[in-house]
Order: sequence, then C-alpha cells, then structure tokens
Amino acid sequence: MQALRGGGLVAIPTETVYGLAADALDARACSRIFEVKSRPLTDPLIVHVPDPGWLGRLARRPHPVAMQLAEEFWPGPLTLVLPKDPRVPDMVTAGHPTVAIRMSAHPVMHDLLREFAAPVAAPSANRFGRISPTRAEHVRDELGASIDLILDGGPCEHGIESTIVIAGESGVLQILRPGPIAPSQLERFGRVVGNDGLTPSPGTMKSHYAPGIPLQFGGSPPPGLRCGLLAWSVSRPGFAAVEVLAPDGNPRTAATRLYSAMRALDRPDLDLIIADPPPGGGLCEAIRDRLQRAAGQPASGGGD
Ligand code: TXA
Ligand code: MG
Repeated sequence: MQALRGGGLVAIPTETVYGLAADALDARACSRIFEVKSRPLTDPLIVHVPDPGWLGRLARRPHPVAMQLAEEFWPGPLTLVLPKDPRVPDMVTAGHPTVAIRMSAHPVMHDLLREFAAPVAAPSANRFGRISPTRAEHVRDELGASIDLILDGGPCEHGIESTIVIAGESGVLQILRPGPIAPSQLERFGRVVGNDGLTPSPGTMKSHYAPGIPLQFGGSPPPGLRCGLLAWSVSRPGFAAVEVLAPDGNPRTAATRLYSAMRALDRPDLDLIIADPPPGGGLCEAIRDRLQRAAGQPASGGGD
C-alpha cells in the first residue's frame, strides 16, 4: 500500500496472470511500468478497478452493453475497452482515446484495491514480449531487482490473460484478445466479431508471449536440432525434454500450465520448442493464439 501511494511498483496476483501495478492516476508512477518492462510507450496499460462503479468515472458514456458485461463477468477475466474519461492519464492509454478496464476476482488484488480505494494500471509482470508470469517466482526471476514489492498469491487460476473486448458505440462486441471468457459466453449480449487485425493492439508486435529460444507451432522437429516438446495431452519419444500441458485432456488444465511449461522448456541446452496445436475452440482458441504469437505467427492482430 505504502509502495503504491509513494508511486512505486507492486507485482500482484490476479486470476489470470501476475500484474505489475502502479497508481493509475499517477502518470509518473505509470511511466516506471513502461521503463521496467522495456515496454514501448505506444502500448497502452489495463486499468484495474476496485469496483464496477469506477467504470462510469474512467470511461466516457459507456455503452449500456458494457455495463451489462461488467455486471455479468466482473469480478473476472474480462477487459472492456471504452472511450476514455480525461481523468485517465494519456500515459496509461498511450495517447489512445480509449481505456481498457477490468476488475479482477483475485482476493489479493481485491483486498489491495479496496484499501487503496483507487484504480491501478497493471500489465502482465514480464519483460515486454516475453512469457507472462503465473507464479510469484516468475516475477522475482525476471523483474525482482527493479520493482518495490511482490505479493505472492500462489499460482494463478486461469493461467492466460483476460479476454479483451471493445464494446463500441454500435453495441457490437469485438474480441481483441481471446481469453478465458469465450465468444459463446458473450453472444447473448450482442453481435460478437473477432479481431480483424486492423484494430490497433493488443500488442501489434508479431512475436509475443515468447520464450528466449525459438518456438515452432505444430509440425515435426527439424533434423539435427535438440528439441523440447510442449505436448497437448500425450508425450512422444524423440525429444530432449517434454512438458505435457493437459494430461487429463482438459483445456483449463492446459491454460493453467501453459506459461510454466513454456518457461520450463526455455533452456539454453535446447535449440527449439515444438508446440502441439490445441484441438478445439473456446479456451483452446485462446491457447492457440498465445502459442502462435510465441512462434511469431499470429493468426490476426496483436499480443502483449
Ligand atoms: O489478464 C490480464 O489482462 C493481465 C492481468 C495482469 O490483468 N494483464 C495483461 O496486460 O495481460 P498486458 O498489458 O500484458 O496486456 C494488455 C493488452 C496489451 O496488449 C495492450 O495493447 C492492450 O491490452 N490494451 C490496453 N489498452 C488498450 C486500449 N485502450 N485499446 C486496445 N488495446 C488495449
Ligand atoms: Mg502482457
């Protein structure tokens, strides 16, 4: 708390991945997030709110469908992109006229925000373009030396980042980043469209969520390379190291384990990671999105 009030940076668990938080209404504090993550100033931050009432204070005339989505899915892994209120610093939204807002269901984030009684800006607590942290030790290893505090809430429940939706003036829901809330859950609130690849961000970079060694999405190991296998549900021989994402075949298990498994295979003695394509839609689609970005081959638009 002290750290946040003093303009410091605190790593906080959420139900998706760990975030790196600063006072959202303090542009200077937020500028430190960009510095520490080596994140381009052009890539906007998500604002986490203590309660849904903040939606009306941070967004300008939010469409009624946005209010309905907040009521249904908050607290939870859904981020809404809405026209921004002038009180949100331009630093946070990277100069965009919109602001991304979410309310996390994690008890640690919830308690912290209740005490802070104001919003925090919190992107995933990793270096820009790299794998999101799902455990406190991931944050400690990557950013420990340059931030003020890490709150350890154990492993994150979902393991992949929130679904990001633009709830624009027309009431059409555009999914910018697939995540734990599936398109089928959004359909009763309006027409759902995917990322057309033209809407700026999330993360317009080609490569994202990436380990230090190359990752290949699908296919077989090229001859002569020492490969690690990121298997979906069953292991195969012929690899120097193997991580199985969902031994029970359940996509939720795969999502929870995804980033830890990618980190475990990110070893200097391996040349390449081969990732099995996830088999279905819904959450599998969100995992496929992350793996394709890690491979530098996004199917559409953006990433961070
Ligand atoms: O689950 C999550 O969303 C996690 C936890 C920590 O909350 N946060 C997260 O933040 O994944 P970050 O910054 O790593 O990814 C957020 C993405 C970025 O790619 C950014 O470009 C996009 O959201 N974004 C932020 N504000 C936006 C806006 N106004 N319009 C479009 N995209 C935006
Ligand atoms: Mg990120």
